Amino acid sequence: MSEGVQTPSAFTPRVFSGIQPSGNLHLGNYLGALKRFADSQDSGIQSIFCMVDMHAITVWQDPTDLRRATRELAAGFIASGVDPERSILFNQSQVSSHAELAWIFNCVARMGWMKRMTQWKDKAGKNQENASLGLFAYPALMAADILVYHATHVPVGEDQKQHLELTRDIAIKFNNDFGVEFFPVPEPVIEGSATRVMSLRDGAKKMSKSDASDASRINLTDDADTIARKIRKAKTDPEALPSEVKGLEDRPEARNLVNIYAALNDQSVDQVLADVGGRQFSEFKPMLADLAVAQLSPITVEMARLMGDVSEIDRILARGAERAREITGPIMKQTYEIVGMVRG
Ligand code: TYM
Repeated sequence: MSEGVQTPSAFTPRVFSGIQPSGNLHLGNYLGALKRFADSQDSGIQSIFCMVDMHAITVWQDPTDLRRATRELAAGFIASGVDPERSILFNQSQVSSHAELAWIFNCVARMGWMKRMTQWKDKAGKNQENASLGLFAYPALMAADILVYHATHVPVGEDQKQHLELTRDIAIKFNNDFGVEFFPVPEPVIEGSATRVMSLRDGAKKMSKSDASDASRINLTDDADTIARKIRKAKTDPEALPSEVKGLEDRPEARNLVNIYAALNDQSVDQVLADVGGRQFSEFKPMLADLAVAQLSPITVEMARLMGDVSEIDRILARGAERAREITGPIMKQTYEIVGMVRG
């Protein structure tokens, strides 16, 4: 091991997570990520949240749309309760250590690991030859996002589990290759009843910003009427709601609406079913619509207010990036030393 490099065996707990600014921020992002980020601030653990604009460009983004989506996402974080003073909030491209560490991880990770990623297979589709090299290497950048802060806990939705496993593999291989205990092996935090919010039109598909049908998702920019209409039209089955969880087996659409209700109301699925078991969807849907509007409308209104002053948003992100660089600078310096790069 190189001289002067510390090898901490225990790491101070630190939370890191990121969201792509690729438009259509939706209820899945809110319940699976944003709401939980806001809650995690109360744990007393330092939290770092990032708008991953460099991940977004792994598929084509119109530059004007990207700028707007980045600011809108920042507004979404703040409106959801992420406090840019208590947490560190910034966009990825302003902290160049992410890209620097990603390059080193490109040289640690193996092609075979990347080829197994389901997101790569889904997004590249049949035409892999024509997908960007960035899309293929995406998980190495994600590992760098997390590990450049020595983050130990990563709150995400279920769909990011495989990427987190790869992050752990990269940390372990780097440490083994160089004979150090430099990077922590971070824990995914996938908790609560809404780690996988499904489409409102098809209970077998996850709610996604890229679904062609706008009715499949509730966007954080939807007004109260639109939210209520989308819930009223959500696909369901003709049965009444059961009073126990096992009664939701093989009923993906019913399960999804109950999960959403539970997450919005900070209840367990058992508690919700104890209250609503036996009711028809004609009764439950208006309850869910009222709850969703009550919880989401203030966020929508606050996002719109914040978007009225983009220079303030830009100032918040620049300040967050400055605080982020204070953490990544020393970690990158040590990383270069471990790898054997000469630094003047
Ligand atoms: P992204 O931008 O697709 O999604 C952001 C967060 O929202 C969660 N999510 C959902 N949760 C529940 N139900 C859904 N239908 C749903 N859809 C999305 C995601 O799990 C995620 O937590 N690769 C990441 C971004 C990223 C990142 C990171 C995350 C880049 N670097 C480092 C954590 C740490 C992504 O594309 O998320």
